[in-house]
Amino acid sequence: MPLVAVLGGSGFLGGHLAAALAGSPWRVRVLTRRRGHAQSLWLLPHVDILEADVHDPGQLAAGLEGCGAVVNLIGILNERRDDGRGFRRAHVELATTLVAACRATGVRRLVQVSSLAAAPDAPSHYLRTKGQAEQVLRAADDLDVTILRPSVVFGPGDSFFNRFAGLLRLAPALPLAGADARFQPVYVGDVAAAIIRALDDPATSGHTYDLGGPETWTLREIVDYTAGLLGVTRLILPLGGALSRLQAELCEFVPGKPFSRDNLRSLGVPSVCGAHPGFDALDITPRSIRAIVPAYLGGRAERRRYDDLRRGARR
Ligand SMILES: NC(=O)c1ccc[n+]([C@@H]2O[C@H](COP(=O)([O-])OP(=O)(O)OC[C@H]3O[C@@H](n4cnc5c(N)ncnc54)[C@H](OP(=O)(O)O)[C@@H]3O)[C@@H](O)[C@H]2O)c1
Repeated sequence: MPLVAVLGGSGFLGGHLAAALAGSPWRVRVLTRRRGHAQSLWLLPHVDILEADVHDPGQLAAGLEGCGAVVNLIGILNERRDDGRGFRRAHVELATTLVAACRATGVRRLVQVSSLAAAPDAPSHYLRTKGQAEQVLRAADDLDVTILRPSVVFGPGDSFFNRFAGLLRLAPALPLAGADARFQPVYVGDVAAAIIRALDDPATSGHTYDLGGPETWTLREIVDYTAGLLGVTRLILPLGGALSRLQAELCEFVPGKPFSRDNLRSLGVPSVCGAHPGFDALDITPRSIRAIVPAYLGGRAERRRYDDLRRGARR
């Protein structure tokens, strides 16, 4: 059975990918900083967990030993300071270490999950370093690299709809920075399917794919839709440039940084599909927010809708 190493496999996308690989020919080796971070995967029979510091060349190479492919899901949205060092380490330096480890172990197949709108000259540390990591990997033309660039990803366990739902449940009003920011939200199951397609189809190597869902939404529309699903009426206050910056400044000091200056800079770039081929080229039909989100976020309003439908059907 072929073995795939998944860096960052303990996270949101990693969990869905591991589940999607059950029953496939692939066995999975998840590399994690702490075994406990991958607790949700412990019982999956096709998944092994390996503790490793992926920034250490020797440990990373040991983690890739015997693998036929590697998927890199490691990414951070925030760093301790705001000087780009944390982002460079997690994205660019890791890409360089990963290329070296692939060469040392003879692993040629590499699938990188980047981000839509990532570019070496993007205005945020996040998008810029993701773009620079793409450059590092494209330059490794002795490896078979596929780069996938999703927009914001939704699905059970996401930190997008679930985060807004948490805020909307608590607060009577929501001041919203970057309310006009545009996204093409993409279902996590479809991103997992794209990764598996890339693993299985050698024709995808050397290519980059933009992964966006079927619709473009503004952040304001997403928050309104979430409130509707929860059945709550809230005052949504779109913030202008100066107030958005103030909110980002203040959130820098909140434990866990729920929002940051860098996040605000990222919101300034539309996260919509661009020049690269997308799901069409992978023969995958992406699912919509309306088809998926009510099932895991549906609140009173959604239950009422089902009750009405049931009553209508006299059941
Ligand atoms: N979720 C989205 O909306 C979205 C959108 C576009 C692109 N992406 C990209 O898709 C990938 C997966 O996203 P995700 O939402 O699944 O992320 P996630 O839930 O935050 O998981 C990322 C994993 O990376 C590991 N990690 C984090 N910081 C690290 C560090 N400094 N050094 C080493 N490992 C570190 C963690 O694993 P351990 O703690 O186990 O070591 C973590 O479980 C990321 O590259 C992300 O940038 C995500």
